[in-house]
Amino acid sequence: MCGIVGIVGQSPVAPLIVDALKRLEYRGYDSAGVATIEQGKLSRRRAEGKLINLQRLIEADPLDGTIGIGHTRWATHGVPNETNAHPHFSNGVAIVHNGIIENFAELRAELAADGYEFTSQTDTEVVAHLVSRELSRGLDPVKAAHNALKRLEGAFALAIMFKGDEDLIIGARNGPPLAVGYGEGEMFLGSDAIALAPFTNAITYLEDGDWAVVRRSRLQIYDMAGEPVERKRQQSIGISLLVDKGNYRHFMEKEIHEQPEVISHTLAHYLDFANGTSKPIEMPFDFAKIDRLAISACGTAYLAGLIGKYWFERHARLPVDIDIASEFRYREMPLSKASGALFVSQSGETADTLASLRYCRAGGLPIGAIVNVRESTIARESDAILPTLAGPEIGVASTKAFTCQLAVLASLAVRAAAARGTISRDKEKALVRQLSETPRFASQVLKLQDQIEKVARELAQVKHVLYLGRDTNYPLAMEGALKLKEISYIHAEGYAAGELKHGPIALIDENMPVIVIAPHDRIYEKTVSNMQEVAARGGKIILITDKKGAEAASVKTLETIVMPDVPELVAPILYALPVQLLAYYTAVFMGTDVDQPRNLAKSVTVE
Ligand code: F6R
Repeated sequence: MCGIVGIVGQSPVAPLIVDALKRLEYRGYDSAGVATIEQGKLSRRRAEGKLINLQRLIEADPLDGTIGIGHTRWATHGVPNETNAHPHFSNGVAIVHNGIIENFAELRAELAADGYEFTSQTDTEVVAHLVSRELSRGLDPVKAAHNALKRLEGAFALAIMFKGDEDLIIGARNGPPLAVGYGEGEMFLGSDAIALAPFTNAITYLEDGDWAVVRRSRLQIYDMAGEPVERKRQQSIGISLLVDKGNYRHFMEKEIHEQPEVISHTLAHYLDFANGTSKPIEMPFDFAKIDRLAISACGTAYLAGLIGKYWFERHARLPVDIDIASEFRYREMPLSKASGALFVSQSGETADTLASLRYCRAGGLPIGAIVNVRESTIARESDAILPTLAGPEIGVASTKAFTCQLAVLASLAVRAAAARGTISRDKEKALVRQLSETPRFASQVLKLQDQIEKVARELAQVKHVLYLGRDTNYPLAMEGALKLKEISYIHAEGYAAGELKHGPIALIDENMPVIVIAPHDRIYEKTVSNMQEVAARGGKIILITDKKGAEAASVKTLETIVMPDVPELVAPILYALPVQLLAYYTAVFMGTDVDQPRNLAKSVTVE
């Protein structure tokens, strides 16, 4: 989604803004722009496509102002082109915006009737005109911005600059995140701490409904009623140091290879390996005292939650309702006070997941947030943060955050089982030991990359792929299909293997690769039957299994990827790795933009 940067600085800010926008690239964008004010003149450069286009424009025709705002745009209203790119201007007002102004049509009609002309198709331009209309009524910039903000409905983060005041940026937040960074005689605004990391590690996150008057040596935050409010100033970790591809070609490749380490960190946060039990960390609820668990999330995080459902129900006998957050928030699910709720999100900012959390909050449920960004809104609005210790995930396609989410859910399932007395003390110890071995197995699995690259070469030739799995491998089949779709643009579907004959089998012919995820577990034989059905119709099978599974496959495969023998609990965490590598190498062969695939955003802060 869109990224925002603002600097009230001491030297020309345009190069710094472009640099900060580069660190927001991971969020996904399709055009970008920067505006500065220099000696009373407001100027901007905007470009469609990648930031390099904007950078070239600025190099050819520099912007020298020491105050400026910048933006990476992920199109919602209007196509991605230069005219729709931000900043938008109106009579000396410059604006950048992340989110959606829901009442924009009504405001646009009202402003057009007042004689304001629109040069773009965006919802953002109405905000620029609204502010400018307030100024024309004789208000000062701060009052004008406040009046305009009060008219807006929807989700937005905004930065506003005024031609007549070279020491003022107004930031506002209602939904998408916005942080203020403190410098020495300069101040910064940014969509997240990653954007601000090279400038400062002292930041304040605005809360929903906040707006901030940012000057070089002064910051004042107000609520929507115009009352001054105090917000915590906090130290952000120097994550800019970590945001680097190292020796890898893509962030996604690097993040796949970081998994042994980050899974290990995550597990160690929850589990006491020495004593074979859970650590006494702060929990949102007591698993022994709830009789249902609601889990909600989007995309890959939802699929992690779905695997979690199998674990909680199997080991802790705890029934789980799991929903895609965009459905959960509107389906008016009755909530039982005896339930707990878990929300899973890498970014902690996903609009639908946040709305589901608020629905459960209104229903009085205790809330836990499995998040990677601890300062995020979902984290802040929960009763307890259950962190994934994946570190910043920059590749748009989630990899290490997914396996860390699984590591948290597996740890919580063991904790729940022990608390509810559904496993013995010995079984608890055994499960904790199995989890402790996951990082070592993950390193072994990564060694299969050459074979997986070879399979990917084949996949890069086809138009459609089917993924099959049973039990926890069914959500993993869907995750495999999702990964392949999003970064290689090959059409892929993930199905429960048992569903094959209820429809998708009609798709099978000699051109259809079918990737089967099937460790040799208690239902392996059932999956072999499904493979036979595929083989009988000429489908090309790529089997991901273990040694026993490979021996017992009894069907001809195009390729068999043999994984280490791993315990059932940890298998989904480890089988996620070949699935990620397959998508990664296929995308590399296809020549797509692996880290920033088309149309996708890392942090989905609109519905
Ligand atoms: C897919 C992917 C997305 C996210 C989804 C939720 O690779 O990354 O499907 O999982 O947009 O995002 P978060 O986890 O930030 O809530």
